Amino acid sequence: MSQQNEDTFLDLGWLVDEHLHPKYWVESKNRNPDYSDMVRIPTKKMDKHTVIIAQSGSGKSYFLGRLIEEIIIKSKSRCIILDPNGDFRKISEIDDDLWNNNQPLSEKYDIKTGIGKLTLESKEDFAKTWRHSVQDFCIKTNRVPKESGDQELKIWWPSVSLEFLIQQNDPRTTTEMFHCHNWAKVLFNQFAQMSDDTNGEDIISKVKNIFKSLQDIPSENRVKMIQKLRTTPNDKSETASTHPKLLDSLLSSGLSGLGDITKTLTKIINTSSESMEKAKFVFESYSWDTVNSYFGLIEQYQSLGILAKRPYSSNHKRRLEVIDLPSINNNELRALVLNTILTEEWENATQKWEDAMKSPRSEDKRVPTFIILDEAHNFIPSNPRSRHETLVREQFRTIAAEGRKFGLFLILVSQRADKLDDLVLSECSNKAIMHLDSQSMVDQVIKRLGLEYDIEPSVRTKITNFKTGRIFLAGNWAGDDSIFFCAARRTLEGGRNLDDKYWARAT
Ligand SMILES: Nc1ncnc2c1ncn2[C@@H]1O[C@H](COP(=O)(O)OP(=O)(O)O)[C@@H](O)[C@H]1O
Ligand SMILES: [Mg+2]
Repeated sequence: MSQQNEDTFLDLGWLVDEHLHPKYWVESKNRNPDYSDMVRIPTKKMDKHTVIIAQSGSGKSYFLGRLIEEIIIKSKSRCIILDPNGDFRKISEIDDDLWNNNQPLSEKYDIKTGIGKLTLESKEDFAKTWRHSVQDFCIKTNRVPKESGDQELKIWWPSVSLEFLIQQNDPRTTTEMFHCHNWAKVLFNQFAQMSDDTNGEDIISKVKNIFKSLQDIPSENRVKMIQKLRTTPNDKSETASTHPKLLDSLLSSGLSGLGDITKTLTKIINTSSESMEKAKFVFESYSWDTVNSYFGLIEQYQSLGILAKRPYSSNHKRRLEVIDLPSINNNELRALVLNTILTEEWENATQKWEDAMKSPRSEDKRVPTFIILDEAHNFIPSNPRSRHETLVREQFRTIAAEGRKFGLFLILVSQRADKLDDLVLSECSNKAIMHLDSQSMVDQVIKRLGLEYDIEPSVRTKITNFKTGRIFLAGNWAGDDSIFFCAARRTLEGGRNLDDKYWARAT
């Protein structure tokens, strides 16, 4: 077993309840933090999927914020936050009020309500590590106007999975769509590599032009062309360095006339044997109806403004990324965004895994990636309402079942355990329950989480009496002390509740 040191613990909360020890009221500026009452979890325990269940308003998202902060500062992990409520939009900023000395301490923690935001380390200590971590932060949003530093939340077409494109269950169309998407993906990526976007023409129309030109060729000519392609040796001597030039000539030729198009296509295909293989299927077996509906879909998404004109410029994966889901106001587009993000993460993780398996352990530089989803029942429902929801759920199921091997871990938060998919839920070994209104709700949640035989009646009663911020841990990450009060989230909450004054009667 490897040695754990101080830094490899996540500090999640305080082992205190009704009677808070006065020491927590004191600013910690001039003394060392006292961790004796702190609930600490070895970071290694996070190598399982995690689920947090509680009713609305019990502090789930706040606890999630604390958990993310700890994961980021105590480990080398990456976190992708799929943020449906805007709660994490401001996570890169520090909550100054937490350390505000003008605020009476009794306001920071109210003995009567048992609610408050308590932290132990000084602001300077936290700020130092946090600022360092969030240097590599970005928020992806479709909001207008964007704030500086925000990135556009758009998708690069080749990352859309085939399943998303298939409208009906017809095997022939499915096969054709498969080949069409496969070749189009190669072309998209080939164009992206060579073009610098100076002429303003976007890659989508370039790819479309190639397909359209093929469509315009009379079919007897196409037969000839296929024969020519078959007999043309796949000349590997044409190296990648000549490949941009060839693509250029393809474009400038305008693809008019059989002679030209044969020549240019032969060239483009010869530059990549992958492209050659994929193109063959297209030429041979295509119904143009399929091609038309394929590009029809692209155009539809393009008109909704969700398609990126180019791939994201770097392959660099941010350490902390927030996906601003409310900035996309359409369920299908949200599913499309999730689909591409999950596809990209999955492909990236499996590819890195394969590379890592070829080299010695000492060279394995892979870090854990957490995919974090609040309001998870809306995206991984037990009863999907559409084909798109079913598809996204399927991707989450795959990550839940096989992701750990590739370093992908889920953290899911929900107020509806009954509406969250069974298969995904059963893969979550780290479980947290916060306040639930009724005993029957507690019994139901405990059953859904597979904890019927693990939780004593006294704990069940406690859960119904939990105040905001109280957490019960079960499963893999639970230690001796399983009930505690969530330590402060030190970053700004993005969402905001209604102002209390509007709940009071006018005087
Ligand atoms: N541990 C806590 N200490 C103090 N305030 C908290 C704590 N947890 C949550 N809150 C506050 O309670 C409100 C509801 O919390 P939130 O995390 O949004 O609940 P949920 O996600 O379960 O609906 C927020 O305004 C938050 O600031
Ligand atoms: Mg919430």
